[in-house]
Amino acid sequence: RDDPTESEAMKRMETNYDEGKVPDYRLPDPLTFADGTAVVTAAGWKRRRPEVLRLFETQVYGRMPGPYADTRFEVTAEDGNALGGRARRREVTVHFGAGGAAINILIYLPVGRETPAPCFLTLNFHGNHAIHADPGISLSTQWMRGDEAHGVVDNRATEAARGIVSSRWAVERILERGYALASIYYGDLDPDYDDGFRNGVHPLFETPGDAARGGEEWGAISAWAWGMHRGLDYLETDREIDAGRVVAMGHSRLGKTALWAGATDERFALVISNASGCGGAALSRRRFGETVAIINASFPHWFCDNYSKYNDKENTCPVDQHMLIALAAPRPVYVASAEGDRWADPNGEFLSALRAEPVYKLFGLKFGTTKQPQVNQPVHGRIGYHVRAGKHDVTDYDWNQYLDFADKHLK
Ligand code: GCU
Repeated sequence: RDDPTESEAMKRMETNYDEGKVPDYRLPDPLTFADGTAVVTAAGWKRRRPEVLRLFETQVYGRMPGPYADTRFEVTAEDGNALGGRARRREVTVHFGAGGAAINILIYLPVGRETPAPCFLTLNFHGNHAIHADPGISLSTQWMRGDEAHGVVDNRATEAARGIVSSRWAVERILERGYALASIYYGDLDPDYDDGFRNGVHPLFETPGDAARGGEEWGAISAWAWGMHRGLDYLETDREIDAGRVVAMGHSRLGKTALWAGATDERFALVISNASGCGGAALSRRRFGETVAIINASFPHWFCDNYSKYNDKENTCPVDQHMLIALAAPRPVYVASAEGDRWADPNGEFLSALRAEPVYKLFGLKFGTTKQPQVNQPVHGRIGYHVRAGKHDVTDYDWNQYLDFADKHLK
């Protein structure tokens, strides 16, 4: 929703941006079992991990189902000479049942590779056609937020929407570096407004006329993450993709989603959170910038209903977001912040990554820093982190880091 209500506006005005006013807090320990004993080995983490996962499922994002039984992949378009010969473009529709529910995956493959390509799998905010001006990309017909300035009329994309967010997608650079890029419009999975989960993929798993939803049922972030899992199901069938080297990447609410998708599906080889902030990488207990109460008021459909129990009571939540990052372990994970993006609490994102490190250490893996690095000074350990100059966005700088980090860990 674009216009906050009056009470949300009030909440936002109370937002704390003063490091001196961050309350004292104690984080729950990822390395303590529910019965109070300590996790001291990597094998111990394998047993602790499902406990942590279950807490995020029941208290934060809601439980997502497995694959839909009646799923069918259809390659709908193919162009071996896309982007002036620099790419092969493929479009795939994943059909769920016969009722018309489907997601559309846009894939760019690098040309001239003899072996299957590693791949970044992402969701996007404005439709596949918005990530690049390439006129060959199918225009989304889904409901979409935005105005005429963004090429959207009556909540549908028009030709004018092609490439409107291309600055966030370093398509050519990704391809030159030998990676494929796959992207899905998040509105194919669940249009981003609070409609009681009547549209999108939720109804595939719910009987019409079901009683009120329980506190653990999946919200929109889980539905979007579920869609990333289904995208990966397809990639596993594509012989030009190396499905063992697929990176889950997302920005902002879709960064929260990427972290959750990577936590719930260990097939992802690497996970990237770009400016995911509250409910993503940032520690909720710091109450710096956006808070749990604010996010639940503004976006009541994102999390499971139980999450509202922690509005202004972050200390009573059995998890904090460092434990979400830890669910990526021992796989490489990257957390990126922007200096001007105080709403997402850059320092809280860094501290969260740092507090995930003890889990990595059980595997003999390191972050490589104990202090938040200076602006534009990336750290690429098994955990990666940078705080970029500038605002809430995805830039070429961010992509350059992700490509270097992926090269380091996946090549
Ligand atoms: C809002 C929201 C954030 C979210 C962001 C985005 O600012 O408060 O939590 O990350 O939108 O997705 O762009």
